[in-house]
Amino acid sequence: SSSTKDSALALNFDAVAKNKNDIVTVPAGYEVSILHALGDPLTSTDAVWADNGSESADSYNNRIGDGHDGMHFFGMSDAGAFQANRSDRGLICVNHEYVVGPFALHPAGRTVVNNVRTVAAEVDKEINAHGVSVAEIRRGASGTAMSMVRGSTYNRRITSATPMAFSGPARGNSLVQTKFSPAGTDTRGTNNNCGNGYTPWGTYLTCEENFTNVIARAAGDNALRSAKEVVGLNRYGMTQGRRSPYLWDTAGSDDLYARWSASVTGASATADYRNIFNTFGWIVEIDPFAPTSTPLKHSALGRFAHEGCWPCKAVAGKPVVFYMGDDSRNEYIYKFVSKALWDAADVGKGHVAGQKYMGEGTLYVAKFNADGSGTWVELTHGKNGLDASNATYAFADQADVVVHARLAGDVVGATKMDRPEWGAVNPINGEVYMTLTNNSNRVSPTATPTGSQLKPDTANPRYYEDLKNGTTSQKGNPNGHIIRWRETGNDPAATTFAWDIYLFAAEAGAAADVNLSGLTDVNDFSSPDGLWFDQNGMLWIQTDDGAYTDVTNCMMLAAIPGKVGDGAAAVAAGGTPTIKGANATPTTVRRFLVGPKECEITGIAMTPDRKTMFINVQHPGEDGSLGAMTSHWPASQTDAASTKRPRSATVVITRSNGGEIAV
Ligand code: FEO
Ligand code: CA
Ligand code: CA
Ligand code: CA
Repeated sequence: SSSTKDSALALNFDAVAKNKNDIVTVPAGYEVSILHALGDPLTSTDAVWADNGSESADSYNNRIGDGHDGMHFFGMSDAGAFQANRSDRGLICVNHEYVVGPFALHPAGRTVVNNVRTVAAEVDKEINAHGVSVAEIRRGASGTAMSMVRGSTYNRRITSATPMAFSGPARGNSLVQTKFSPAGTDTRGTNNNCGNGYTPWGTYLTCEENFTNVIARAAGDNALRSAKEVVGLNRYGMTQGRRSPYLWDTAGSDDLYARWSASVTGASATADYRNIFNTFGWIVEIDPFAPTSTPLKHSALGRFAHEGCWPCKAVAGKPVVFYMGDDSRNEYIYKFVSKALWDAADVGKGHVAGQKYMGEGTLYVAKFNADGSGTWVELTHGKNGLDASNATYAFADQADVVVHARLAGDVVGATKMDRPEWGAVNPINGEVYMTLTNNSNRVSPTATPTGSQLKPDTANPRYYEDLKNGTTSQKGNPNGHIIRWRETGNDPAATTFAWDIYLFAAEAGAAADVNLSGLTDVNDFSSPDGLWFDQNGMLWIQTDDGAYTDVTNCMMLAAIPGKVGDGAAAVAAGGTPTIKGANATPTTVRRFLVGPKECEITGIAMTPDRKTMFINVQHPGEDGSLGAMTSHWPASQTDAASTKRPRSATVVITRSNGGEIAV
């Protein structure tokens, strides 16, 4: 875009003060309503949430799931097609990452006896409470707030049991063959859907992150596997003898439960679920405009703990590029460049376009060099040491490379990052931002690292001790930072880039060598996670914090970001001598929202007219229990005396005067 809108941006709202209240706090002149929360019915016939966990497992095929996370708004035409510029009617897709404090979902908490799930119906309900919801939403006759259209034919739940198909190099490969799909072409369910993405052709991308949490592996399983298989399983944390926190595999011998254990139990891969672990960890495409369509797991984009999948701006005749992060300590940043070149005639073509642009392309992993330059290293079988002769891991083919993308990243020496969470592409200049939320495995430059510990490097430069009342609470990089890069020639498909650090998170009262961006009470924060550019080029930063919740609930800030290289300019002008962006000021970074107790603020969308904003509140009251609830949100938003169960929910934010958000 040749727009220069970002230079005209201004943060015209009063900063919200840090607080620990049990409500969503927004600036004066803004209003909050709830779009939907855990258990709300998508149909017009199912009963409303009863606040006692009595809803059936089956009813969650038609109810809003748990753990609201990434989301996207798609405008919809009167004819039911994707209409990018429509604001008063659309479909909202929301990730339901996981079952939060199960006391909200079940009548009396989760039933577990000696590590066995003895009530199968509870497991069935949890399986159905994961995944994604699609809901039609509309504005009323007046105003800019929106509400869900119960009973819309577009309303849909996709769960951990929904049939899906594979696309790309892993489709049909022996690595994903199972009893359910001996041909390795299909699988069931999407899990632990964290961040999200969307495509230029109007489909939703949901990203499988902590899928390790739902799968177990039997003790002694290594002896039944090849040495190579064990290397692959261990690199992704699936060690033998590992119980899954959910224990779904223990609920019965039925195929519905047995499939949650990646263990050798039968005569071959097509007789058991030894490969089930390989069927998760993907970017999954959902066409919200085709309610009966089969979601696609796009294997060409690699398998890891996907946070999200963010497209560059689509340009006619150029590849479509997606940026991705692997959210685990010391993992990598990736990008995918489509083989097909963008043709705007593909808008609205759903999974046909998905196969075209995401079925085939090139996967890259990022190397951040100490001089502020960077390289995208191709992860293609037969290149860069990724072949059967590799001593670390013998890559058989491209399916083996994408299923074991982390091992491929290891081989090519990619840069190990401080937990890559969300990315965002600046619509004004194409620069890419990514949050690095924190890393307890960074150790002192003078230490001798052990195990997975790493010393700081220039892209992950901080090691410090987080002092609370004079004592050390956390070490490493507890507060996180935001990195950004500009592709060479502003070409998203370039294989080199320039980078700097945009912002270091810190508490306002931290020492100057920790609070490197000079944050103050109006904009200090910790552990950036959600990140999003709106249409004007304003950057929105959301937090999921373990290091600052003694002082404030998690929050969202708005920022006017500048560009890569501002740090060098600031240094030249006598600023802080670090490889980072210009210092934050109250004019460039300001707190817009604080969430209710014990929540994470995550997921963000806005209507094209910028008058309706959506954010998600995940896991309010997560530290409580049925007998000792610590939050009653969302009921507490309007009733301070509420005793209801806390629920993850989507929040609608509008301006009292009906105007645009934050201008
Ligand atoms: Fe589900 Fe990386 O946050
Ligand atoms: Ca996240
Ligand atoms: Ca997080
Ligand atoms: Ca969280």
